[in-house]
Order: sequence, then structure tokens, then C-alpha cells
Amino acid sequence: MCGIIGFCRTSEMWVAPSLDSAAPVVPLVGAMHQTLIANHAAGISVPIASPLVLEGLRRLEYRGYDSAGIASVDNGSLLVRKDIGAIAEVDALQQLGLMPGTIAVGHTRWATHGSVTQANAHPHTDMAGRVVVVHNGIIENYEELRDGLHAEGIVFRSDTDSEVIPQLFARELGDGCATLEEAVRLVCPRLQGPYAFVVLSAHDGGTMIGVRKGNPLVVGFSDHGVFLSSDVLAFSEHARWMVSLTDGEMAIVTSSGVRFLNPDGVEVVKIPSMVDCVWADVGRDGYGHYMLKEILEQPSVVSRCGHGDNDLLVDAALAILGARQVVFTACGTSRHASLIGRYFFSKVARQFSDVVMASEFGYFAASLNSQTVVIAVSQSGETADVIAGVKLAKEAGARVVSVVNRPSCVLAEMGDYLVKLGCGAEIGVAATKTFTGQISLFYLLAHAMVNKLQLGRSNLEQAGILLHELLQGLGDGLEPLALRLRDREHLYYIGRGVNFAVAMEGALKMKEISYIHAEGMPAGELKHGTLALIEKGTPVVAICPNDETHAETISNAMEAKVRGAYVIGVSDVESRVFDHWIRMPAVSSLLYPIIAVAPLQLFAYHMALARGCDPDRPRNLAKSVTVK
Ligand code: AGP
Repeated sequence: MCGIIGFCRTSEMWVAPSLDSAAPVVPLVGAMHQTLIANHAAGISVPIASPLVLEGLRRLEYRGYDSAGIASVDNGSLLVRKDIGAIAEVDALQQLGLMPGTIAVGHTRWATHGSVTQANAHPHTDMAGRVVVVHNGIIENYEELRDGLHAEGIVFRSDTDSEVIPQLFARELGDGCATLEEAVRLVCPRLQGPYAFVVLSAHDGGTMIGVRKGNPLVVGFSDHGVFLSSDVLAFSEHARWMVSLTDGEMAIVTSSGVRFLNPDGVEVVKIPSMVDCVWADVGRDGYGHYMLKEILEQPSVVSRCGHGDNDLLVDAALAILGARQVVFTACGTSRHASLIGRYFFSKVARQFSDVVMASEFGYFAASLNSQTVVIAVSQSGETADVIAGVKLAKEAGARVVSVVNRPSCVLAEMGDYLVKLGCGAEIGVAATKTFTGQISLFYLLAHAMVNKLQLGRSNLEQAGILLHELLQGLGDGLEPLALRLRDREHLYYIGRGVNFAVAMEGALKMKEISYIHAEGMPAGELKHGTLALIEKGTPVVAICPNDETHAETISNAMEAKVRGAYVIGVSDVESRVFDHWIRMPAVSSLLYPIIAVAPLQLFAYHMALARGCDPDRPRNLAKSVTVK
């Protein structure tokens, strides 16, 4: 949930392998170096690293945006500038992009340990300012490490767990006998919990080392130098080639190039892959917000899902069919999509499955075994609760199907089967298009289980066309509705069967971006308690398409209406119970969730705007939750 980036200008240029082979990258030693020497002779100053790091931070800002900072090395000295606020605010105060030096690291923070203060912002240095660290993850034993260092007289400036890392490195560097590489190798085994960090030393004109355990760290190769980052998005404009570090691997970057060491310290050759251009495409395309852009992309996401890799789907489908027990595990929006997947599996393939929220998954682990298939669903592929559950599942001998959107992520590496959504980068903190991508994919998986993949694909194609038509005209009705309801304190969303998770998702969107209390529930549950909260004018959103759930959901909406509720119906058929009708097209019954969620996302979006909230940057939330 923090973004980290490092960049070092190098004297090696990387020549891409030929597209049709897995040939290793060939370092063309000296090309960049010659340019630098020529520039120097001509009196041209060497280009600095900080503008590229700042640009990377802006692209990582969706991961956290409460404080930011950059450190660079110039003429053997370490410079650090950091502050609280969004990156643009910190840059305006601290001129981050003008920091001198050809090597720099940066960080955008979402606070976990230590409140939002300048001292707690990254980068963090050791006491003497010899090394500087940007860190993502949690050092679980930091109190013990901190106490030990404190007893040796080391003074801490922040309340973060992260600060123990540079302090430990400095301790191992001692009076200069050890190299940074040696110090990192000595310190890493002492750090408990998942992490990825980049450390920069002022020694030898600057050495930058990146290590990961549990959290992602990728290396990007550009014509100008080497990037290290928690996300390929940070450098996708500049680097066409990348490698992902695996747990315990180390990337050592200096001005003369990059080396990779495995966890035993042995040098290894890593084969790069091309940076995925769809993923790299993160512009707002003229839309005011990423969230709106991503909502409107959904028709093409549905159709793209319909053209995914057959073999991967069929392999995963066969594993699910052959399992004694099938369990989805996920958080937030991904969990809501899983709840819909569960209905698809049951209705289409007669396969029972359960959905366990990832933060509770560990408490069910006792019943997992080699006959279990766990479907781990995560847009980011980084959510700590999901990853922890998958570890337990693997220990119990279960097989894991990873369903992810980000191409290079921890969860993708952990699965026995991997299904990629291919929705492209989702930058808005509120998940929208990946929800639709996930349910489209579960629809296909269910059809693959009964050998009807082709039928599933053509149904999805149709749904994509209808969704496109619906989205064309929706804004006109939803904007006035939002203006009318913007001062309400509570909203309730109801639906039955395959539509109940749509109700939950609609409520989640409303809560997270407009800060109005909203609850989604199966419509039949309304009368078991929540009805007591309905008073005159309370908005109740009923997702009641013309399917097997219609009549009963309408009855439940009526129960609310007679107690004063203002009923908003999301349906393809009108009803006298509706005070406001959000009309959607008729589709085959299982496809209603793909269509019905879009108006709810847009309603939440307009509500956020009507209340003066920024839908792309909801308070207290980050896109990837990499802590438990
Ligand atoms: C969605 O709008 C939320 N921001 C959040 O609930 C999210 O779905 C959850 O954190 C899970 O993320 P993941 O899919 O990346 O695992």
C-alpha cells in the first residue's frame, strides 16, 4: 500500500532479446558511459535521476497518498526531501524533481505504523545519514529490533517500523569494512514479515539495492538506466523490458549496471519480459476522474474477457470440477465478485462452492486438504490477507487458482493455475472494471466446466454490447438523483440470488467514495432487523431484474416503502413500488449482475461529486492492502 521507486543512470544499455526467443539480455557495456563521457567533455551536465523518480511516484500515487519523499546521492552526499500531503503538494514545497544526482529513490506512503507526519514519511536514513531506505510492508519484529538498537545508543527519528532497516544496515556497515551488499545479506534474515525495500548508499558514487520477501519488486530497463519499483506502472513510459524479483532475490544497481543474486548470494541471470503496453496505458483520456474512465471501459472489458486464453480457463475449470471442496477467498470488491461466481458455479455447473473472506480464511484452514481447490481472487494480487490464506492452503496440500489483474504480482506466482483478467491498469481506488472482469471470468469458468465455453463467450459478447448502450444514457438520470439524495445519512441496497452481491457492491462503492453509510444485503434479510432503520425518505435501492428473484425482491421493497422508504429500482421492468426507476436492458438471467452494477457505480460517483468528494482518492483507503 505504499509505492517505492529507485532509479540509477547506468553506463550500460540493455539490448532487447529478439521477440521470438527467450534469449538473455545482452548488456552493451559502455554505450551510455560513452555518451556520458562525451557529454562531460562537451560541458553538458549529466542528467539527474530525481525527475524520473518523481514521475514514477505520481504514477504510484494510487497506492498511497498521505506523504511522499525522494532521496538522492550527489557528490558522495545523501540528500533527503520529504513531507506530508499528496505528491504535488510535497513537490511544490520541496522541489523534489530538482534534486541533484544520477541515482535516487522515492516513496509515496499510506500510513500503517506511525501517524502521518514529516518524520514518519519515507525515505528513512540511519543516524549518520549514510544509507537511506524506502520500504513497503511491515517489519513485524520491529519493536524488538528497535529496542536492541536503542540499547546500543542509536537514536530514532520516526515512529515507523521502516526506520529499523537503515539503522541496521548502518550498524553492519560499521566503520566501512563491509559493503552495502554484505550489510543487506546480514540484515535481511533478521527482518520478520513481508517487505520490499530499496536501499541507497552514498558510498562509491551510489549503490542501490532492492530486495523483496512477500511484497512485489520489479526491475525496469530503460535506455537511460535501471528502475526498481513496487509496480511496473512507475516506469512503463520509459522501460520496455522488465524482470520481477522472486522472494529473497537481490538486485544490485550501480552506475555500471545491474547484477542479480539469488537468496544464497550466487549471481544469477534473469530473463526479461516486455512491459505490457495495455497495463502501461494509464492516462485519463480526457475524463475528469480515473473512476469514470474505468466505469465506461467496462463494455470493452467484458468483450476482452470473452477472448481470453482457452487453455488456461479449461485447465482451471477441470481442477475446480475435480475438487471435493471449492473455496473462494478474497476481500472487498473481489469478494463480492466471488459471491456471484459461487452462484454461477452452482447454476451452470452444479458445483457447490463457498466464499470465505480472506481475513477470516485462516480460521477455516483446519478443513483444507489435498481435495480442496482454493480460488484466490485479487485485482492487485498483493492483498496480504489473500496471500496469507493461500500460504495456508498450500501448506494443507490444496491447489490454488489465482485470479488476478496485475500481471506481475505475488499471487500470480503462488497459484497452481493462473487466470489473468486483462482489464488493464485500474487506478481508481474504488474497483469498478475489475469487478465486471472478475464476474465475466467466473461466468466463463462455469461454462468451461460444462464444456460450453463458446456459448459463454457469445453470451458475454452480447452483454458487452448491451452494457455499452446502457452506459451511453445513464448519467442524465443519475446526476439529478445524486443531487436529490446527497444529504441522506443512510442508504440500503437489497437484491436476491445472483443480485445480492451486486447490492453489497453498490453499497461498498457508495461508502468508500461518498462517505455515506450504506449497507447491502439479501433482500429477504431486510425484515430480520434492518427494517427498524427505515424512516420517511430513507433511500432503498432494489436490484430486481426480471428474473426468478423479481417478485420477492419487489415484495421486500414494498415492505420498506410502506415504512416510508424512497425506493430506487434497478430493473428492466417498471414497478409501481419504484419512486425512481433506473432502467436496464433485459439479458439472460445470470448476466444481470454484469449490467446492473454499472448504474450503481455511476450513482456512487455522482453522489461523491455532489458531496464534494474526490472519487479517485477516498480518505483512509489505498488501492492495495499489503498489511494484515
Ligand atoms: C474496492 O473498491 C476496494 N477498494 C477494496 O475493497 C478492494 O476490493 C479490496 O481491498 C481487495 O483488493 P484486491 O482485489 O486487490 O485484493
